[in-house]
Amino acid sequence: MLVTDGTRARRTGIRELWDSSIGKKIAVAVSGAVLVGYVVLHMLGNLNSLYGPGGGDARVDDYAHWLRTFGEPLLPYSFVLWAVRVLLLGAVVVHITGIAQLRARSRAARGGHPARRIGRSFSSATAILTGLLLLAFIVFHILQFTTLTIDVTPLREGAVYANLYNAFQKWYFVLLYVLAVGSLGFHLKHGLWSATQTLGLDRPERNQGIRRTATALSVVVVIGFALVPILFWTGALASPSDVVAQASATPVVTR
Ligand code: HEM
Repeated sequence: MLVTDGTRARRTGIRELWDSSIGKKIAVAVSGAVLVGYVVLHMLGNLNSLYGPGGGDARVDDYAHWLRTFGEPLLPYSFVLWAVRVLLLGAVVVHITGIAQLRARSRAARGGHPARRIGRSFSSATAILTGLLLLAFIVFHILQFTTLTIDVTPLREGAVYANLYNAFQKWYFVLLYVLAVGSLGFHLKHGLWSATQTLGLDRPERNQGIRRTATALSVVVVIGFALVPILFWTGALASPSDVVAQASATPVVTR
């Protein structure tokens, strides 16, 4: 393959940026922004569940189908979904590698001593823990609802509403998901605040406003996610089989 001087210079530039601490911080912030974007879109997508089972044709199932057929016939089935998956995986790898290397550097600069934690907020002090919990949750979550491997409750491909309904009849799945999105909330709050520092947007006079905005956005995301398991569990969202049973029991009136 022909590598031009321009390409080589660009690669060297990216390498140099990645090798610098500020470059790594920017990479962590940009990959974090990609992940936040996905999280917000995923939360909004999940809220389609609130439309209910829709007579056996739930809106959230249509949404999942749309994600897979997006771009057809120009693009193959699931092309965009796979492109998003690759982007997300890349963002996760850059985010974790950047943070691990920045921490190793700052530890080395302190002669191997851990950072002092005085004056740090709860979300900042627990950012590594909430990040690791989220990572573990995401692996479990994909094995449950995407690959349908963890089938403690009945799961069927394409039947997202029924899959969610069945899973969230179990109190332990509701608890697990609410705790996971709680971790996400704290992680997000810390991440949004750190990103404004990396971008140099923090100033003493506006820091309180930035912190409040980060908290408000995180609370909205937590509520948006947590609503789904809670509403299924409380029975506010109807069982898919009830609707199908009702529909088949209703006499067909012909005029
Ligand atoms: C109550 C909270 C949540 C619910 C009810 C939920 C629901 C779902 C469902 C039903 C799927 C499969 C969708 C499909 O097959 O089209 C899915 C996939 C996924 N979810 Fe969640 N989710 C929740 C929270 C989260 C959180 C907090 C994250 C990340 C921080 C996340 C990340 C993902 C990822 C990465 C996938 C795989 C997407 C793919 O590649 O197809 N989810 N989720």
